[in-house]
Amino acid sequence: MQAEEILTLGIETSCDETAASVIKGGREILSNIISTQIPLHQKFGGVVPEIASRKHILNIMPVIDEAVRSADMELKDINQIAVTYGPGLVGALLVGVSAAKTLSFALDVPLIAVNHLEGHIFANFLTHTELEPPFLALIVSGGHTALIKMNNYNNFEMLGQTRDDAAGEAFDKIARVMGLPYPGGPEIDKLAKIGNAEAVDFPIAKVDDYDFSFSGLKSAVLNYLNSAKMKGEDINNADVAASFQKAVIDALVEKTIHAAGEFNFNKIVLAGGVAANSALESTLRSKCEQKGFNFYYPSKILCTDNAAMIACRGYYQSLKKDFADDRLNAVPGLGLLA
Ligand code: KG4
Ligand code: ZN
Repeated sequence: MQAEEILTLGIETSCDETAASVIKGGREILSNIISTQIPLHQKFGGVVPEIASRKHILNIMPVIDEAVRSADMELKDINQIAVTYGPGLVGALLVGVSAAKTLSFALDVPLIAVNHLEGHIFANFLTHTELEPPFLALIVSGGHTALIKMNNYNNFEMLGQTRDDAAGEAFDKIARVMGLPYPGGPEIDKLAKIGNAEAVDFPIAKVDDYDFSFSGLKSAVLNYLNSAKMKGEDINNADVAASFQKAVIDALVEKTIHAAGEFNFNKIVLAGGVAANSALESTLRSKCEQKGFNFYYPSKILCTDNAAMIACRGYYQSLKKDFADDRLNAVPGLGLLA
């Protein structure tokens, strides 16, 4: 069979989205089904792992069925199955891994174990079908913030990562304290549009090399909010959101542009849920234009968790026969491997 004809079923259940997708070859999305649990977790202000696992169990087979049906085919047409096995919530991951192992056995097709973080980078190949490595990737999600040298499809090098909180985690925590609904990132993004980013000068930690740190910034924003409340001062939430967001973006953009110069990359790729942030996207885009770098980021629906990116990553692993077997287990603390 020609590689461009291979049909890959992707399965993703690492956090609060149950997702399945069928792609053809490496880059053509035939279906991309995402059943989000966000409304379910909203009343708790964040993801409740036990509830997430139970909901995945209820959703997984209907979501897979719908992905296959919307791709205009039947399960028996699928050639291989790619599943996220980490990082993520262990109970949530296990639902996807068990479903993938069962289907791989029943359909007698290869199983591919995909690292969720690598999947986020690969979302870019689905949006930009002409994109090829090498490039520099900035992953910013709810659980991770990292700068990665992607040398080829199967070789990644971590240049730096957060030493404490991920950028998305800081967005979610600050939004929560401001009384905004979960997930906080999109809410801060919206609010910041009507705020003044110069209103409050929040400090951003100076860390060596290409590592990041957001816990000091998070504490500074929380202290600012608490002390204003104690003094009975009015808080302009939009100004706080815009000033906080600018501090995060400045740190991310400065290190990314510096790394691209130092390591001679002319392509910069943004990935992960926080890549959906409009100010991050526009700031990094304009910095890239100034420096003559090409800038890529995924379409909005492929920024946050989805299974098309997992199928895409899996497809490129299958080209080098990187298959898993029925001993595959969830690895909640999985880092970047290659
Ligand atoms: O990649 P993702 O869907 O899940 C993980 O793998 O962690 O990222 C979710 C994170 C959440 O923290 C959410 O608040 C953040 O991405 N996020 C945003 C935006 N949309 C989602 N953060 C800032 N601005 C946004 N527009
Ligand atoms: Zn993710």
